[in-house]
Amino acid sequence: MKAEDQSTNRENASPRKMPFHKYKAFEPIPLPDRTWPDKTITAAPRWCSVDLRDGNQALIEPMTPAEKQKMYDLLLELGFKEIEVGFPAASQTDFDFVRSIIEEGLIPDDVTIQVLCQARAELIARTCEAVSGARNVIFHLYNSTSALQRKVVFNMSREEVIKLATDATEVVKTHVAELEAVGANVTLEYSPESYTATEMDFAVEICAAVMKVWQPTVEKKIILNLPSTVEMATPNVYADQLEWFIRNLPDRECAAISLHTHNDRGTGVAASELGLMAGADRIEGTLFGNGERTGNCDVITMAMNMFSQGIDPELYLSDMQKIVAVAEECTKLNIHVRQPYAGELVFTAFSGSHQDAIRKGMSFVESGGDEAWEVPYLPIDPADVGGSYRETVRVNSQSGKGGVAFILENYFGVSLPRNILLEFSPIVQRLSEADGGELKPEQIWDAFVSEYIDVEGPYQLIDYRVSSMGDEKEACDAKIKVAESEIDTHGEGSGPIDAFIEGLVKTLNEPLSVVDYQEYALTAGSEAQAICILSISDDKQNRYYGVGISQNTTTAAFKSIIAAINRKWL
Ligand code: KIV
Ligand code: ZN
Repeated sequence: MKAEDQSTNRENASPRKMPFHKYKAFEPIPLPDRTWPDKTITAAPRWCSVDLRDGNQALIEPMTPAEKQKMYDLLLELGFKEIEVGFPAASQTDFDFVRSIIEEGLIPDDVTIQVLCQARAELIARTCEAVSGARNVIFHLYNSTSALQRKVVFNMSREEVIKLATDATEVVKTHVAELEAVGANVTLEYSPESYTATEMDFAVEICAAVMKVWQPTVEKKIILNLPSTVEMATPNVYADQLEWFIRNLPDRECAAISLHTHNDRGTGVAASELGLMAGADRIEGTLFGNGERTGNCDVITMAMNMFSQGIDPELYLSDMQKIVAVAEECTKLNIHVRQPYAGELVFTAFSGSHQDAIRKGMSFVESGGDEAWEVPYLPIDPADVGGSYRETVRVNSQSGKGGVAFILENYFGVSLPRNILLEFSPIVQRLSEADGGELKPEQIWDAFVSEYIDVEGPYQLIDYRVSSMGDEKEACDAKIKVAESEIDTHGEGSGPIDAFIEGLVKTLNEPLSVVDYQEYALTAGSEAQAICILSISDDKQNRYYGVGISQNTTTAAFKSIIAAINRKWL
C-alpha cells in the first residue's frame, strides 16, 4: 500500500467521502394541509401477522411444517385474529400447511386466515384450491405498481398494469363466488406492491379500478394494503402519502386501509405508527420485525409502544420469554439483546446512577406513588412482560454501590449498612475490572463471603457458653483457636456480646470495642438464619467489619467479631 493511501482522517484535514452522489433524494408529495401530525394513536388497529409468509419467505432456512405449526399456535395464543398463513401457490409446504390447518379444524371461528397470491390466473385458482373448506379467508392479491418496476421489470404502461390487476380481480371474484356458495366468507385484500414508489394518483387509480370490479360495501369492505415494500424516505413522507391516498380514494368508506411497512431505513415501526395517525385501520407485520431484508414492521414493538401509553394493544404479550423462544426456534435467528421490550438487556442498568434512580423509582411505586407507572429508565414495568425487577440491575465495572447493594439485598436478603457498602463496592469494582466484565450475583456473594465471613486469620471460634449471672449480667466462656493452640476466655458484661468481647480483650490482649452492630433474620421459616454485621474499633480507632451467619443469633454475632478481628490481622 502506498503511503498516501494510508492517510487517515486524523492526518488529513479533508476526509474521505462516501459516494453519495450516486443517490437521489426521494421526492415527497406536497401536502401542506396535512392533518396527521395533530392526531394521536388512541386504539389498537386490526393486526395481521405475516410471520408465516413474509417472515418465512425471508429465512435462510424456511420453517419446517412443525415449525410453521408452532409459530401458528403462538400467533393464536397472542391473539392475532388475522394471520397470513402462506403463499400456497408458490410453495408446496405452504399449500400443505394451509390444507392441514383447515382439514384438522385448527382455525378458530373468530380467526381469518390470509393467503398471498400474485395477479395470475393459474396461481389464483391454486390459491383458492388451498383455502377451500376454510370459513373466513382474506385473499391477498398483489402486483407491483411502481414506476421503476413498470419500466425495468414489466415494461408495461399504466393502463396495462391496471388491466392486469382488474383482470386478476375478476378471476378471484369468480373463484370466490364458488367458495362463498359453500359457506366461506372471503375478503379481498389488494396490494399495489411498491406503493411508496408509485405515483400517488396512479396508486389511487389502480385501487379504485380494483374496487370497481370487486364492488365492496361499507359492510363488506375491501382491504387496500399500501406497502412500503422498500422503505424509501422518512416516516412522515409515508404518512403524507397515506393521507393523500385516503383523501382521494373514491368510496373510501368501503375500504379498510392496511399498512405493510418494511424497515430498510430502520423506521418500519415509526412509519406504521405515523400511518395509523394518517388514517390507516390495519397493520401487517411480524414478531420482532422478521421479514425480507431488514424485515417488516415489528408488531411486538408497535403493540408494546401502545401499551406503554395506556392503550389496550389487543395482543397478549405477557410471556415475552416464550415469544422470544418460539420465534428464535422457528426462524433460527437470534433476537438481539437490545430488541425493544424483549431483548435480554432492555430493562437492565449497569450504570450506578441509573441503578440508583431505578431503585428510588421502584420504592416510590411500591410505596403507593402515583397511580401510573413512573420509574426512571424503565418505560414499562418488566413484570408486565414476564420479567422481574431483580433483572433490572446487573453489575460490572460501571456500577457503583447501588448495584452491589441491590444484588445483595434482592438475591441474598442482605441489606448492608452504608459504611460497609462504601468499603465493599470498590472491592467489587476491582474484581469486575480484573474479570473484564459482568459479575453475576453469585460472584458478588462469594466475594462478600471471602471478604467478611470466611476470613482467613489467626482466630477461630471453637465453642462458647453463655450463662446468666442475674442482675442483667451475663458471663461468656469461650474456646478460641489461635494459630495452633486453643485458649479459653472468660468475660462478663451486660449481654453476650459484651461478655465475649471482654473475654477476648483480657485473654488475647486485643484492645477492641464494638462500634456498629446490626443483626436480622436472613431467611424466613424454621431454617431461618440470622446475619450479624458488626464493626470493631481497635485502640488506634481503626475500624474493621466482620459478618457472621448462623441459625443462632449469638453464634452469628460471635462469628462476626472473630471475622472482624481476623480482618484486622490480614
Ligand atoms: O412488501 C410487500 O410489498 C409485500 C407485498 C406482497 C404486500 O410483501
Ligand atoms: Zn413485504
